[in-house]
Amino acid sequence: MPKRYTITAALPYTNGPIHIGHLAGVYVPADIYARYKRLTGNDVAFICGSDEHGVPITIKAKKEGVSPQDIVDKYHAIIKKSFEDFGITFDNYSRTSAKIHHDTASEFFKTLYDKHEFLEEVTAQLYDEEANQFLADRFVTGTCPKCGNEEAYGDQCENCGSSLNATDLINPKSAITGNVPTLKETKHWFLPLNKYEDFLKDWILKGHKNDWKPNVYGQVKSWIDDGLRPRAVTRDLDWGIPVPVSGGEGKVLYVWFDAPIGYISATKEWAAKEGKDWEPYWKDGNTKLVHFIGKDNIVFHCIIFPSMLKAEGSYILPDNVPANEFLNLEGNKLSTSKNWAVWLPDYLEDFPNQQDVLRYALTANAPESKDNDFTWKDFQARNNNELVAIFGNFINRVVVLTNKYYDGVTPEASELSQVDEETLAAVKAYPSVIESSIERYRFREASQELINLARLGNKYLADEEPWKLIKTDEARTKTIMFVALQIASALATLSEPFLPFTSDKLKKILNATDNSWHDVSSKITLLASGHQIGKGELLFSKIEDQTIQEQLDKLEASKKANEAANKTLEPQKDIITFEDFTKLDMRVGTILEAEKMPKTKKLLILKVDTGIDTRTIVSGIAESFTPEEVIGKQVTVLVNLAPRKLRGVESEGMILMTETSEGELVFVNPDTTVNSGLQIS
Ligand code: MF3
Ligand code: ZN
Repeated sequence: MPKRYTITAALPYTNGPIHIGHLAGVYVPADIYARYKRLTGNDVAFICGSDEHGVPITIKAKKEGVSPQDIVDKYHAIIKKSFEDFGITFDNYSRTSAKIHHDTASEFFKTLYDKHEFLEEVTAQLYDEEANQFLADRFVTGTCPKCGNEEAYGDQCENCGSSLNATDLINPKSAITGNVPTLKETKHWFLPLNKYEDFLKDWILKGHKNDWKPNVYGQVKSWIDDGLRPRAVTRDLDWGIPVPVSGGEGKVLYVWFDAPIGYISATKEWAAKEGKDWEPYWKDGNTKLVHFIGKDNIVFHCIIFPSMLKAEGSYILPDNVPANEFLNLEGNKLSTSKNWAVWLPDYLEDFPNQQDVLRYALTANAPESKDNDFTWKDFQARNNNELVAIFGNFINRVVVLTNKYYDGVTPEASELSQVDEETLAAVKAYPSVIESSIERYRFREASQELINLARLGNKYLADEEPWKLIKTDEARTKTIMFVALQIASALATLSEPFLPFTSDKLKKILNATDNSWHDVSSKITLLASGHQIGKGELLFSKIEDQTIQEQLDKLEASKKANEAANKTLEPQKDIITFEDFTKLDMRVGTILEAEKMPKTKKLLILKVDTGIDTRTIVSGIAESFTPEEVIGKQVTVLVNLAPRKLRGVESEGMILMTETSEGELVFVNPDTTVNSGLQIS
């Protein structure tokens, strides 16, 4: 009996294109899993779509001076195309602006409302008087009460993963105007998560202790241990799905209430197109529901959405939520706003037809149990040392030799040697080896097993040396090539989930497409003697240093551009009078001596000739200059600043410097040397 799988991948926000972090964390593992499940004969619904509501989209629209609809239309198309380009085989890629979704989400809300599952409460919420707007979610930032991150959002801290209410933030600030918000009363509907604590404890903490990933289980446990509180599921916004009950006018559903319901709407839309019944995919207890997400989505998929499903009553719960950690890029956090990312459309432009290389590099280095770093050097090494040197090399040898010796016809095997038997037995074991990794959501490990199979092929050829034997033992050579062709054929099938484009190419080269995953472990021959294969074609090509350098340069340029754009000038200080100014006595000074203040990083102790006297000034410039560099330099000195002690040394004045946009200190004194003591006015 085929098993039914509903596999979902987090609906991406349509406020920008997607980057390698999204691919590595969510979409590639989800696609490997879905492809593998299909290949092993299951009934699969692989579901995704665009998350088109929520504050990030409104903010982006405001920034660009267009409507939210313009933004979602633009990025829905771009994202959908990226997924197709990278071979992500969603059965349906829908969008939350679709009518079927608005209807499904409204109905879901009404069902819970009618069942009295919500608390209806008037509470004081953050409000921006200037923008005339309530500040929820990403419209407000502030300090996270849990970890102290100063850039936490109104619904979540991305640093520690805590889910927050906007009013929890310390020092909240409007993301629209920068103003400090006031409080204003408004009515909302709350899902009392505290009511579901026992159910969640039982279902996850007891029931999934051993099969959920430790990073997911641990996060969930710490939230439940902290105690759950009611959570507003409506918002005072104008972009979203209108609250469908009386008193809800002018309000919309919280994006995290509607978006996960998007999985259900997208399934309905797909089933209708396919002439299937959607309900078993969500309501039949034999269906396995698996959510692929990034770690910032754990609370929503493990606590809030399951509580919603539980409250509704007729839905199944996820069997697993194999969330990944984050991928960094060249040592820094991926960031859309800082343009620190590799965008999928850009990648394809620079590496046309090399989707599998990226899929592979991201899988082999996936942030499965901890944050991980993507580096272009690693990408190059994965390609050159694994895909080219192992996988590609093996296939190339097999195909070239078969064409050369036998005009591409699979030869007859005569008696198999012990090595042949062992090799074929090892090949047969691979489906279950890879399967066992995939079933535990260890895609890195699975990808390495695939390469091990190619390695096995290479070793077999290197040990058996058909290129030597062809001169002396034709029968033996035929047997060796027969065995090697079986390995190549196994690779064509087993690589499909990981390297779908390569698998297609290889099947074309071998002129064979019809082996299933199970055939590899059960059939005696995958490519029969007499079967004609096609001509060779390189599966992978070497990536040169120059190409990698270009990518590194691109990142460097984006870092520079970002720094320049983000360098905001301090606002002008309060006006002072001319009398105030004349109180400052600034003179040209010459640095005579300099030494480091012991046990500090920043401070230099200077002896400065001010013209009036030679005095000691302690200055915080040691990170920019060595003592030797400053001796003899002329500087502007504020000489009548009240003396003060720094680390026990009395500083009699201050040296004026400036800081460049790169954070470097520079002297701003005249180029020409003048007499110490001259006044600056
Ligand atoms: N748009 C969200 C994000 O990018 C994910 C939504 S997943 C869903 O973080 F469950 F709500 F669909
Ligand atoms: Zn935090």
